[in-house]
Amino acid sequence: MPQKIAAGNWKMNGMRASLDEARAVASGAPDGITTVLCPPATLLAAMPEGLAAGGQYCHPAVKGAHTGDISAEMLADAGASHCITGHSERRADHGETDADVRAQTEAAWRGGLIAILCIGETLAEREAGRTLDVLMGQLDGSLPEGAGPANTIIAYEPVWAIGTGKVATPDQVAEVHDALRGRVGPDMSLLYGGSVKAGNAAELFALVNVDGALVGGASLTAADFLPIAEALAAS
Ligand code: PGA
Repeated sequence: MPQKIAAGNWKMNGMRASLDEARAVASGAPDGITTVLCPPATLLAAMPEGLAAGGQYCHPAVKGAHTGDISAEMLADAGASHCITGHSERRADHGETDADVRAQTEAAWRGGLIAILCIGETLAEREAGRTLDVLMGQLDGSLPEGAGPANTIIAYEPVWAIGTGKVATPDQVAEVHDALRGRVGPDMSLLYGGSVKAGNAAELFALVNVDGALVGGASLTAADFLPIAEALAAS
């Protein structure tokens, strides 16, 4: 059985004062699911007990002359158990390719982290009827040999739904997640991401192959994030 996972991606948001929100999430996190917050790296070591913490990216190398970068080993040393790889914002902002994402995912594993590997199509790709081809191509290029439920979570995040308030419809999500289930087997957790909020979470979690969510904007406060986690626990 796939684990149910409510994961929050704070992106480049969060100062030390935001740790109050993380503490509120930790104390309110429901039983029966895994709750993960991925804050900026500056806050990782200060994250509270009671929830899992993740990085948002890792460099393929263990260490070295890579100014501004961070390794999976460093994230783990700061308390992370998870790391997002292949987020579309990094693919866009930093030109990360599927091959880069594969190397980062392998690095996450080497550092003892569970990778939350993100894939997603653009609106143009969806409108051209290429969604499943694009997603399977991304997986072929970025999912390393040896991926399994113990080291990898897949997050389907349509690029057009991220931060836009446009959530994919349950039919659109079901079509993709059913195809992903066929590709990765019965036990790997499959998350949906893209404008997940308390108001739309339950209908997404009711889908048979949706095992949780990767949440951006609505993960920044406990008041927004906990109802999503609770909807998952109740699903
Ligand atoms: P959003 O971001 O929930 O703000 O749309 C999701 C993500 O990028 O992981």
